[in-house]
Order: sequence, then structure tokens, then C-alpha cells
Amino acid sequence: MVTPELAGTPQSPYRAPDKANASPVAPLFPYRRRLLATCRGEISVEGPLPPERLAALQMDPGLKSFRPPERQKEALKEIASLPRGAVVAALVQETIVGYVTFHPPDEFERWARGGLQNLLELGAIEISPHWRRLGIASALLETAFADGALDDYIVISPEYYWHWDLEGTGLSIWQYRKVLQSIMGRVGLEPRPTDDPEISSHPANMLMVRLGPRVPREDVIRFEQLRYPERPIL
Ligand SMILES: CC(C)(COP(=O)(O)OP(=O)(O)OC[C@H]1O[C@@H](n2cnc3c(N)ncnc32)[C@H](O)[C@@H]1OP(=O)(O)O)[C@@H](O)C(=O)NCCC(=O)NCCS
Repeated sequence: MVTPELAGTPQSPYRAPDKANASPVAPLFPYRRRLLATCRGEISVEGPLPPERLAALQMDPGLKSFRPPERQKEALKEIASLPRGAVVAALVQETIVGYVTFHPPDEFERWARGGLQNLLELGAIEISPHWRRLGIASALLETAFADGALDDYIVISPEYYWHWDLEGTGLSIWQYRKVLQSIMGRVGLEPRPTDDPEISSHPANMLMVRLGPRVPREDVIRFEQLRYPERPIL
């Protein structure tokens, strides 16, 4: 269960930004922190965390789905220092046990071609195997999307089954796909078709999308064209 920290306001359960967490780059959304009560104790879910705060934290050794933990920590610091980059993390004392990242699409990807400044990629969400099934992934996403923080953005998450921890979870590809769809669906991401070659290369891969309610209609149309760039515009 996610419980707001005591210092929350009546309007919002989140704490106001505090000076210790201020970043020189304007954060993608205001810093907020929630405490998640679990059977293994309280977990602090907070972010966006600036690179200097990430540098001072330890990585749980189980965070190796994408690359070894120390290299992943460097990647998190890089993302946190990008304009329109953000890292929200789940902390047990000073150890990161899970995180979610947001950043602009890489320039070589088709999603960058439209020049949409309000398109963000939910790049990765990872929870250390020792800390899974406690609601951490859900809490990370709920924290990032809380208070309409990302309502001005189109958020996409290209999902490739080769990144999934099928062995560690014991799930089949299709069960895993369903779990991801449900976790991301809680904050409004939905699978949308595309002819992107990498996504279309396997039927379990999917493009998850959330069109923020404040995204201008013309940007939504430009994004729809990116999903099928060769289709004629009617
Ligand atoms: C997928 C992943 C992020 C889930 O993290 P988590 O913290 O365990 O997820 P939560 O505890 O928030 O679970 C959310 C929902 O998914 C379900 N779920 C999560 N893992 C599950 C599993 N192994 N089997 C069945 N259901 C599962 C939960 O039951 C929960 O559903 P509910 O709310 O209806 O009970 C985690 O397994 C992980 O880090 N995997 C490796 C990296 C990865 O695949 N990332 C996604 C692609 S970028």
C-alpha cells in the first residue's frame, strides 16, 4: 500500500521539493516522495533524483536486467542530467532497489524524427528480484504520473521481449506481456499498433503509449504519423 508521507498537503500527498534534492537542470516534474509500506518494511519511492543524489546511493546487486549494476548507475546519472530526463527510484535506506526512467527518444529512433519536444520514452523500469511483487513498480509509476505531472507529454514505452526477465519470474512471454500491460495500464499506457520493424519483429513486443490529456491535437496527429510513417495522410 502506498501511504503519503506525513508532510503531504491536503491537496496532494506529495512533499514539496526540498533544497537537498534541487537539481541544476530544471526537473521534468516536481520532486515528490512517498512511503510504500510493505511486509519487508518501508520503501521510499522518490524522484526525480538529480545525478549527484544518485551518485551517493548504492545499487542493489540484483539490478542487472539491462547491464551490470554499476554501469546501470552511470546510465541513471546520465539520464538524470538530461533536459527532460528523469529517474524515480525506490530506496531502502541508501540503496536503490528499483527505478523507472524517462528521457527523450534517441535521435536515431523513428520517434525522434517528428521533432516532438513533448514526446518522452519510459526507457526502463526495473526492480531487483529480491524486492519484486511488493508493489514497487506500480508505486514508481504512480509517483511519476501523480498530479498530472506528465499530462503535457506523449509517453511511449517500446517493449521488447528480449529485455524481460522470463527466467527470473518463471512467466511465459505472454504472461509477462500481460503483467507489463497491466502495470503500465494503471497509469494510462495502452498498447498501440505500429509498423516499427523492431517492435513488429515479434508478436509479443509492443508499443505502450499514453497521450497526455494536455497534448495539443496537432502533436497527437504528428505522433500517429510516426507510428506508420509510410501511410498516406488523408
Ligand atoms: C516487471 C517488473 C518491473 C515488475 O515489478 P514488481 O515491483 O514486481 O511489480 P508490482 O509488485 O508492482 O506488481 C504489479 C502487478 O503485476 C503483477 N506481477 C508482477 N510480477 C509478477 C509475476 N512475476 N507474476 C505474476 N504477476 C506479477 C503483480 O501481481 C501486480 O498485480 P496486482 O496489482 O493485480 O496484484 C519486475 O519483474 C522487473 O523488474 N522485471 C525485469 C525488468 C523488466 O522486465 N522491465 C520491464 C521492461 S522495461
